[in-house]
Amino acid sequence: MDQATHNRIVSFIWGIADDVLRDLFRRAKYPDVILPMCVIHRLDAVLEPTKATAELKDGDVTTLLAFQGAELVGFAQVQLKAAPSCVTSERPIELHRFYFLKSAQGQGLAAPLMHSALEAARELGGLCIWLGVWERNPRAIAFYLKSGFVKTGSHAFIVGGDRQTDFVFVCLLGTEVARAASEEVPSK
Ligand SMILES: CC(C)(COP(=O)(O)OP(=O)(O)OC[C@H]1O[C@@H](n2cnc3c(N)ncnc32)[C@H](O)[C@@H]1OP(=O)(O)O)[C@@H](O)C(=O)NCCC(=O)NCCS
Repeated sequence: MDQATHNRIVSFIWGIADDVLRDLFRRAKYPDVILPMCVIHRLDAVLEPTKATAELKDGDVTTLLAFQGAELVGFAQVQLKAAPSCVTSERPIELHRFYFLKSAQGQGLAAPLMHSALEAARELGGLCIWLGVWERNPRAIAFYLKSGFVKTGSHAFIVGGDRQTDFVFVCLLGTEVARAASEEVPSK
């Protein structure tokens, strides 16, 4: 990958938070959540030259990209990471990030990216894939359920002084829906 392409991808990954995350949190609890998120965003901006670059080069993290025509519209990351105790399957891999620009949502692009993510999890040696999704993110929850994931537990996370809950979802590799496998696989 040449430097210009690499920089474009890093910039997209950091920029997508502006498009999808702000609105998600604003609807819920602006004062308690969005202000700490802004602080985190500023810190992220300062760390940008190192963090995303490091992730893209880390052998235990696979970053997958989704294009609509020539436009980069979504990305996913799978990684080797210790799973929470409610994930009891062997060799779990985390689906760490899964995001599409708002303009690209609801068009069937997420299913083939999910298929690629499951393939990448297998290539990392996984027998199951797990993720944490905010309990107040019904769209993502609906998408994961139709992709073959099931809820296996939950865990708390703190944003500023606010306690939030992530549902933990898991999918045994090999049991995901056939629909995803039959659709076009996006470019890496
Ligand atoms: C999660 C995400 C990748 C799914 O991609 P998508 O293109 O929106 O997925 P789809 O449209 O195929 O599926 C979403 C489902 O949620 C449903 N849905 C949409 N809005 C909903 C809502 N407010 N409540 C419940 N279900 C909803 C859709 O109808 C669809 O189900 P259907 O196919 O049975 O009709 C995408 O919405 C996204 O990037 N969201 C923002 C980032 C994010 O939250 N990522 C997950 C972090 S864990």
